[in-house]
Amino acid sequence: MVALRVSCVFLSVLMLLNAQGNGSLTAQIQKMIPKANKDGPYLGLVIPNLFELYPLLQSPNNTSNNRTIDIAGITTQLLLSFFNVERVVHYGVVGTVNPSINRGDVTIAEYWGHTALWSWQRYGQGPEDVLPLKSNGDYTREFGYLNFADYTVNVTDGSSYDNLLNNIWFQPEEVFPIDGTPEEREHAFWVSVDPLYFEISKQLEGLVLEGCINSTTCLSETPKVTIVQIGTSTSIFLSNFAY
Ligand SMILES: *[C@@H]1O[C@H](CO)[C@@H](O)[C@H](O)[C@H]1NC(C)=O
Ligand SMILES: *[C@@H]1O[C@H](CO)[C@@H](O)[C@H](O)[C@H]1NC(C)=O
Ligand SMILES: *[C@@H]1O[C@H](CO)[C@@H](O)[C@H](O)[C@H]1NC(C)=O
Ligand SMILES: *[C@@H]1O[C@H](CO)[C@@H](O)[C@H](O)[C@H]1NC(C)=O
Ligand SMILES: *[C@@H]1O[C@H](CO)[C@@H](O)[C@H](O)[C@H]1NC(C)=O
Ligand SMILES: *[C@@H]1O[C@H](CO)[C@@H](O)[C@H](O)[C@H]1NC(C)=O
Repeated sequence: MVALRVSCVFLSVLMLLNAQGNGSLTAQIQKMIPKANKDGPYLGLVIPNLFELYPLLQSPNNTSNNRTIDIAGITTQLLLSFFNVERVVHYGVVGTVNPSINRGDVTIAEYWGHTALWSWQRYGQGPEDVLPLKSNGDYTREFGYLNFADYTVNVTDGSSYDNLLNNIWFQPEEVFPIDGTPEEREHAFWVSVDPLYFEISKQLEGLVLEGCINSTTCLSETPKVTIVQIGTSTSIFLSNFAY
């Protein structure tokens, strides 16, 4: 049986970006990869942060020979790693709760938030209770308090509005800016769109869009290109006005 070794080479995304400034793999890293592969196969470990890496390094079973190849955030990162990419454009189909935006409109958001990272409070806890891991600098009660019981429908008099799903709080993402310290996270909830690209896309405002695909099938309102202040993206499929 082939012994599977777990080894360590820290290919921090940030170190790569810092070293090259253009998101490509450095020559040094490119040399390390085949060297590491010669001694394989390996178990690949994907570890999101140092907090979760330390217990592994401290384990008595850690026989690490300093070669962990760490690959995460895969899609955009592969794009950045293997191609000479200057900026990333993100677009897609969206929904809205803004009544002045109609089906078929194109919106350009100035800020983006990612709203699928939640701290979900256990039953019995409320806005006055500090969230777990707060002391590590995680989990703030700054954004998006959502109490599920507030959306209870058809309650009869005297019924409690409480339920075991309790509360969630939206959480900012951990970000590792290109000009930050490698592996030292910062937090961001609203991320501004690249200012240069935002200026360029603003020129699309006023562009006349087709309202019909043929002589009989048309949108009810003439579509427009419009700037909106914020957009959100999430990892859940969301088509629920109550949310
Ligand atoms: C980008 O990365 C490539 C490949 O490593 C390198 O040859 C090039 O000099 C880099 N360009 C800049 C502007 O840093
Ligand atoms: C360490 O490795 C041994 C042998 O493979 C295994 O039996 C033991 O459970 C491991 N200990 C831990 C803490 O993972
Ligand atoms: C575990 O491995 C890392 C990386 O090689 C090393 O720096 C560390 O000292 C090791 N820890 C122990 C307890 O052997
Ligand atoms: C582990 O790898 C890093 C990055 O290549 C290197 O700077 C460091 O000296 C290595 N440590 C050991 C103990 O080989
Ligand atoms: C509330 O109850 C009524 C009567 O049973 C029903 O017609 C209505 O659809 C319910 N509303 C919701 C939001 O479930
Ligand atoms: C117009 O497009 C719709 C949707 O594709 C189609 O169902 C309809 O038959 C088309 N009408 C004409 C006149 O081509």
